[in-house]
Amino acid sequence: MKSGALVDLIQVGVPKGKQLARAGVVVAVAALLTGATSDNSGYPTGFRNWEHLHSGVILEGSPAYQGFGGLHETYGNAVAMRGYPKGQYSNGAMFVFDVHNVAIAKGSIEPTKRRQVDVMIKTAGAWKFYEFKGDSHTERSITVAQGEAQCAACHNGAPKDHVFRTDDQAPSMP
Ligand code: HEC
Repeated sequence: MKSGALVDLIQVGVPKGKQLARAGVVVAVAALLTGATSDNSGYPTGFRNWEHLHSGVILEGSPAYQGFGGLHETYGNAVAMRGYPKGQYSNGAMFVFDVHNVAIAKGSIEPTKRRQVDVMIKTAGAWKFYEFKGDSHTERSITVAQGEAQCAACHNGAPKDHVFRTDDQAPSMP
């Protein structure tokens, strides 16, 4: 169901003079449908409750170490997960690449502080890329223009609609 249609359903029967309450409901429903957040910065609030798709560790020696070294975990919101089987994504789809530094000692690898939160969100038919520093919900490491240039340049080469992770890489359910 399109979000507009659901919003229309909700608006039926709302008496005049309850505009504010109605606006609140509409915002909440829109957030539910898109998995988006009320955080205006674009921070993907609550992403740890999304679908978890992958974990991996990038150590020194990898060409990706400088930008993405540490433990990374990939999450997709509800809209993203609907598109994931085919690799075709609607507006509102979001992926998060959550990166923690790691401590390596005595044969074990433990995550330490969060290094960054990389975000892809599809809006108006195109992906936007953001990177938030550490645990900050507002401080970005790259500008929107840099995101378009650097992140998108590499993600253009991803197998399905700019997304590297694909359903067929995921371990099959028992
Ligand atoms: C040089 C290539 C490269 C660059 C530059 C790059 N990425 Fe990625 N990104 C990848 C690869 C490869 C993966 C998949 C890693 C995996 O699943 O193990 C990935 C995964 C992701 C994911 C999870 C969804 C997916 O595609 O699997 C997000 C979100 C993401 N990157 C955001 C960003 C952001 C934001 C930037 C810019 C700050 C960025 N990336 C820059 C290569 C790149």
